[in-house]
Formats: sequence, structure tokens, C-alpha cells
Amino acid sequence: MTGAGASRACRAAADPPSGPCQGPVLVTGGTGYIGSHTCVCLQAAGYAVLVVDDLSNSGRGVLDAIAGISGTMPLFECADVRDAEAIDRIVARHRPVAAIHFAGVKSVAESSRSPAMYYDINVGGSLCLLKAMARQAPPRIVFSSSATVYGEPEHLPLRESHPLHPESAYGRSKMMVELVLEDVCTADTGASVVALRYFNPVGAHASGELGESPRGIPENLMPYLGRVASGLASRLSVFGDNYPTPDGTCIRDYVHVMDLAAAHVAALRLVLHAPGFHVANIGSGTGISVLELIDAYSAACGRALDYEVVGRRPGDVACYYADPTVARHLLGWTAQRDVHQMCADAHRYATSAAASRASRPAAGRTTPAAGIHARRAGRISGIPVERAGAGTGPGMDASL
Ligand code: UFG
Repeated sequence: MTGAGASRACRAAADPPSGPCQGPVLVTGGTGYIGSHTCVCLQAAGYAVLVVDDLSNSGRGVLDAIAGISGTMPLFECADVRDAEAIDRIVARHRPVAAIHFAGVKSVAESSRSPAMYYDINVGGSLCLLKAMARQAPPRIVFSSSATVYGEPEHLPLRESHPLHPESAYGRSKMMVELVLEDVCTADTGASVVALRYFNPVGAHASGELGESPRGIPENLMPYLGRVASGLASRLSVFGDNYPTPDGTCIRDYVHVMDLAAAHVAALRLVLHAPGFHVANIGSGTGISVLELIDAYSAACGRALDYEVVGRRPGDVACYYADPTVARHLLGWTAQRDVHQMCADAHRYATSAAASRASRPAAGRTTPAAGIHARRAGRISGIPVERAGAGTGPGMDASL
């Protein structure tokens, strides 16, 4: 996000519903990667949506894509979430029933170079939104947090009770906002907050019209694989194959962005009905290595993607994945889409006309899918590992 202090409300949609309790759901960062998919799911679930975004890392075309998929153009206000005057005015005008707060910056590496900017945008922006919401009514907020708040795992799978020791300014900014929101819920018994700790969001809407479009060269694994698959890069650099994991590469818990979007709809239902501070991991509970993801993507795109092993990336943790039990009990949510669907949908978007429009200047191997699930017990990286018991229980909005 850029453009601090910009106060440029540029509304581009129909009037909001009237009545103090009938307002839309305010979605900050609603044209971003996770925000846009969530808008589709919210509208499919019958919610009116008000997107507040400064378009610093996206474009208006995303609103058209949301409308094309869901049949409804969301309300839109162009504003920087740190612009207190603009956010106050927007909240007073539309009287949203709740907010889902995505707007922020999310690069661990960039946060190490520019920590003040990360605290300004992520913490300052959250405070602006919180104060504006609290002026109208006890705030109801679904907050985009991150598994990075846990830092180096002391045990696996990661549960919400795991100590928080984030190792980057980005992670600390997420933890700080969680603490603020928890204090607010303690002080105001009418307030309700769900902080969702995302693991690794990947994939795209099945239409190929929405997906992840990082500016410049992507830092993250899945969008980089998309570049290799679509010929924009010759090969992937695998950052280290000497980690204490079964194939030596890092293990992560990838979650399909549409499953993640469904988790926000479930969290919204909770904040509308249950005051208090809640926190839930949003992951599949399944760990997948870098090489396994390359294999799955290669299968999805129909050719073996080339890679070379290079040195470790500073700050990478060998292995982490979620215990998603709380999300199942609290939200009735479990991840529905597997790694093959994540890759198929990511590839469809990476090679789509929509991705070409959104992008701006700025020899593999095969592992059986069963291998992905084969390491659920034992020790990885010297960390105690338990069976997560994931993947059971009712799902949410899987058809979206
Ligand atoms: N990787 C490569 N080559 C690449 C990119 C990544 O080998 O070109 C590896 C990384 O070393 C890591 C794995 O792929 O082992 C996943 O890396 P990502 O950058 O895709 O994701 P991270 O797990 O590092 O970070 C993500 C988000 C963060 C968030 C974190 C915690 O990018 O914002 O998950 O959930 F904080």
C-alpha cells in the first residue's frame, strides 16, 4: 500500500442499503489477492460488500472481475486505510455491520528493510479502522493475521496456544494488532474479533479471472512456479535442500485461496453473533515440501518444471503446518481443496488473459501424492511432531 494520507474518496457504485443494522460488510484491501476472492464468496453468501482500497497494489479491473463472477458490483471507496478522516467518513456513511481487514503489506524481506513502514501501514491502518468502527458501534472485525506470528515452531502441528515469537517486523506488526484487538474485546464486551492466522495461501478462482498478481518478480513459491510454467522464467531456484526434512526442502501448509475466502465468511458469521476475541489457524493441516509442490505443479501444467537448488534463503523455517482443529470447531471450516487443485487453479490463472492484464512491469521429478501425507508422525528438524487429525469434519462453502 502506498499513498499515505491520500484522501480521495472516489465512490463508484450504487447506494448502500439503508438502516443502521443493514449495512454492508466493509472489506479493506478488497481488490487484493485474498480480499478479492473473499468478496466473491461474501456476495455468493448474500452479503452486501463495500470494498475500501487505495488500489496501490491492484487495479479497478479486479472489481469488474468480482462483478463478472458473482453478478454484483461491490460498493467501492478508494481510500488509504491510514487516512483517518476518509475512513471515518466512509464508516459513518455506509454504517457497515462488520469489517474484514485485509489492507496491509506482507513481505517478510521488505519488512526487514523498512520496518517503520510496516508498522505504519499494518498497525496504524488497523488502528484507524478500529477507531472508525468503534465510533459507530461495538466493533466487529475479522482480521487477516498470519502463521508467521508463531516464529520458529517449538512443536508441530502449530496450535493457537503456541507461544508467539515472530521474527520479522511483518510478523510483529500482525502480533501487535492481534494484541490490540484482544484488549479492545476485553474492554468492550460488545466487541467481537476473529483473527485468522493464515498459513500459505495459494491457488486462484476456478474461472481464471481472479488470482495472485504480484508486481515485479514474485518472492513466493507458487507465483514463481507460475512464471516458470508460463515461460516468463526459465527455472525455479529452490532455496536449500539440506533441511532436516524427508527430501531436504522446506515444508509448508498450503491452503487454497477459495478455502481461505470461505473461512472469512465463516468468521464473519461468528463476529456477527459472538462477542469476544477469537483466533483460528487457517491451514489444511498437511505439510508439503518445495519439491512436492514442484511435482504437483508440473502435473498440473503437463510438463516437468525445471529447477536448481541454490543456497538457503535467510530466515526460512524448515517446517511448519497448522493444527486446524479450532477452525473446525469454532467456524465449522476445513480446507476442501487439495494441492492438485491449488496447482491447477494457479496455473489456469497464471496463463490467463486476466493475469497478463494484471501484471505490471516492475527438469523436475515426480513424487506420488501419497508421499505428501507420509510424514505425519515422527520428528522434523528436531521438533516434536504429532498427528494433526486434520481433514475431517464439515466443510464450509466448498461449492463456491
Ligand atoms: N521457495 C523457493 N524458491 C522460491 C520461493 C520460495 O525454494 O523462489 C521456498 C522457500 O524457501 C520456502 C517455501 O518455498 O521454503 C515457501 O516460500 P514462500 O515464500 O512461498 O512462503 P513463506 O512460507 O516463506 O511465507 C509465507 C508468506 C508470508 C507469511 C508466511 C507465514 O509469504 O507472508 O508464509 O505463513 F508470513
